[in-house]
Amino acid sequence: MEKNDKILVCGAGGFIGGHLITYLKRQGFKYIKGVDSKPLETWCQIDPDVDVLVTDLKTEEACNAVVKDMNCIFNLAADMGGMGFIEKNKALCMLNVLINTHLLCAARKYQIKEFFFASSACVYAEEKQRTARVADGLELAHRLGCFSCHGPMGTGGVQNPGSLKGYVPGFFGEDYAELVADNEELRQWINDGAVSRLLDNPLARRVLETQALKMPSYGDFLEDEDIDALVELVAWLASDGWREMPVP
Ligand code: HEC
Repeated sequence: MEKNDKILVCGAGGFIGGHLITYLKRQGFKYIKGVDSKPLETWCQIDPDVDVLVTDLKTEEACNAVVKDMNCIFNLAADMGGMGFIEKNKALCMLNVLINTHLLCAARKYQIKEFFFASSACVYAEEKQRTARVADGLELAHRLGCFSCHGPMGTGGVQNPGSLKGYVPGFFGEDYAELVADNEELRQWINDGAVSRLLDNPLARRVLETQALKMPSYGDFLEDEDIDALVELVAWLASDGWREMPVP
């Protein structure tokens, strides 16, 4: 790239696009144009010396029109958001392929010298995702009253006449190890209110069905991601981690 090249930044209204423009300007590039589909007042930053244009790059015409007089392209344009947005708007996010394709075709048509494409969304360290899920799980557990049966933070719960143990078990120790063999069973308990291993045993099944307090099947009214958060929370409480770590 040369200092006199005309540079197009697609997705210029976003956090990275805005900073990229500032960086390019500081490097001495003289002619920069920023494009984004978002209304101008929602762009993260706008440089007064830079040409800005609000246009949706999903169509071939739009791409041809902006690419025509340019020499180099940075394509960061995409409909995106956090993990929640991406999970709930899969079809919408797939349409980003239209931007990428039409921009590339326009770049070939107008013999663009250099084309840079980057795409990323929400690359979080696994540990950070876990902590976030545990925190969600904790809020849910309080809201759903898990601890009123299983005791504060799952430290062992209330009396439960006619049950296997005589009380609602906690989320660690021997009781827990007997009732929850692995994460699969943990998920079953929370989702279905029981585990198949015990339901297949006629004696255990009878106890589960006749005990005074019963484990609700949360799968009937919670989304999968809420069940995930509860599984993560109970696994974390069971692992003893919370005794060393402050509650997130
Ligand atoms: C109405 C009381 C009640 C509520 C509320 C409740 N549970 Fe339970 N839970 C039980 C009973 C009863 C069992 C079965 C224990 C048994 O068979 O001895 C159980 C079993 C479990 C088990 C497996 C056994 C163990 O060691 O703990 C887990 C895990 C569990 N529940 C998690 C939860 C979570 C998470 C919530 C909240 C989303 C919750 N429970 C809400 C009563 C309750």
